[in-house]
Amino acid sequence: MKITKFHPLPKDFLWGASTSAYQVEGANLSYGKGPSVQDIKTVPEGTSPLDVCADFYHHYKEDIALMAEMGFKTFRFSIAWTRILPEGKGRINQEGIDFYSNVIDECLKYGIEPLVTMFHFDLPAALDKEGGWSRRESIDEFVNFAKILFENYGTRVKYWLTINEQNMLTLVGNAIGTSNLDGVENKIKKLYQENHHMLLAQAKVFKLCHEMCPGAKIAPAPNISLIYPASCKPEDVMAAQNFNAIRNWLYLDLAVWGVYNNLVWKFLEEHDAIPEMEEGDMDIMKEGHPDYIAFNYYSTATVAADNGDEPVDASKANQQSGMAEPGVYKYYPNPNLQHTEFGWEIDPEGFRATFREIYSRYRLPMLITENGLGAYDKLTEDGKVHDGYRIEYLRKHIEQLKLASSEGCEVIGYCPWSAIDLISTHEGMVKRYGFIYVNREEFDLLDMKRYRKDSFYWYKKVIETNGEDLTD
Ligand code: BG6
Repeated sequence: MKITKFHPLPKDFLWGASTSAYQVEGANLSYGKGPSVQDIKTVPEGTSPLDVCADFYHHYKEDIALMAEMGFKTFRFSIAWTRILPEGKGRINQEGIDFYSNVIDECLKYGIEPLVTMFHFDLPAALDKEGGWSRRESIDEFVNFAKILFENYGTRVKYWLTINEQNMLTLVGNAIGTSNLDGVENKIKKLYQENHHMLLAQAKVFKLCHEMCPGAKIAPAPNISLIYPASCKPEDVMAAQNFNAIRNWLYLDLAVWGVYNNLVWKFLEEHDAIPEMEEGDMDIMKEGHPDYIAFNYYSTATVAADNGDEPVDASKANQQSGMAEPGVYKYYPNPNLQHTEFGWEIDPEGFRATFREIYSRYRLPMLITENGLGAYDKLTEDGKVHDGYRIEYLRKHIEQLKLASSEGCEVIGYCPWSAIDLISTHEGMVKRYGFIYVNREEFDLLDMKRYRKDSFYWYKKVIETNGEDLTD
């Protein structure tokens, strides 16, 4: 639809950006913090360990001051479960409680709303050792962790997020360092059992949030992107429906409506992977209600039909590409899209299409919790980073967000990935996303000084004009 009548974004639009604890903080085994699965994994060859990252732990005041300078209305960060509960349950680490309390206060000092993710890929290693999310006990463990967060921060934090990219935990745990499927016979069964427990835990936490923090708003934060069919062949269209259901709607149907998506249910049945349930589980799912939908968007994906006759190589799959399921769908590189330096497709129009689809299904306000471009940024001798390519990427996405908003999709905030350079899930420090450059290399920590990239100044103006001025 060609749009000529634009509506301005809401006055209280939440402009900001995001980070996650294990990728930005450093101090990963200090100040009482216990190990998470990220701390015990073998990092991909050639990438930095996760012990220092951007050293946000020691620089948070300086970093939040820079975010305030950009005019942030919100800052999305995650709380490391093992900084609060070093073993995932039991003993509380007061230093961890104090650290996030200080981060929250620092945000509030500048009028920045903290947008807090409870769990971003960093399950406590101690719980993982016991079986992690595959055990029924994991539900109460997560609820207990959430309760501690509400008790300590509930009067100051108005926007909560439960689980970052639960769909990617299920679909590509190998790429993000979270799944251990060695020796597991029915991998799908194991993954979807874990998924079921996470969904129950999330539903309980939605409810608990509303009981303990009146006025607070809580949401899931999956990675949602519309799936295109490779052609108009009916079988490709159905493959796209399959993957849309498996990648996207399963998570939102359960979070919002408390029901299992029927296509996914069939897929699980076909793989002898229906999760084991207790009586009342689906009532629990229905009792939890999110106040908004948060989602991460990097690009759409395109799939074709797969008849299941030939083996499909899904070993290179990551959050955005390469996913395949024999007999259900297979990845198809979209010839109409450009790519980032790291091979991810770029599809701003797909962003608008994704808003439209989500809003027409669920009719809840939407907040973008990630969107951005990973690139090999270079610091010049005079301390500049000319990241015009990032500005271009973000501009095009914000243009589409504004179109979606003008079309009546309720969009309440935009938090690109990432506020500051940090370590990528599996491609190291050199894959930078931030508005703020951190002066370190993959292995050499240099001086960790912060520099404002060109995108920093650009985003400041975008925020100042509430998204009206997107020019350089
Ligand atoms: C999302 C994650 O999948 O994508 C982030 O929530 C991640 O943790 C981001 O960093 C970008 O992906 P990557 O693999 O480039 O770090």
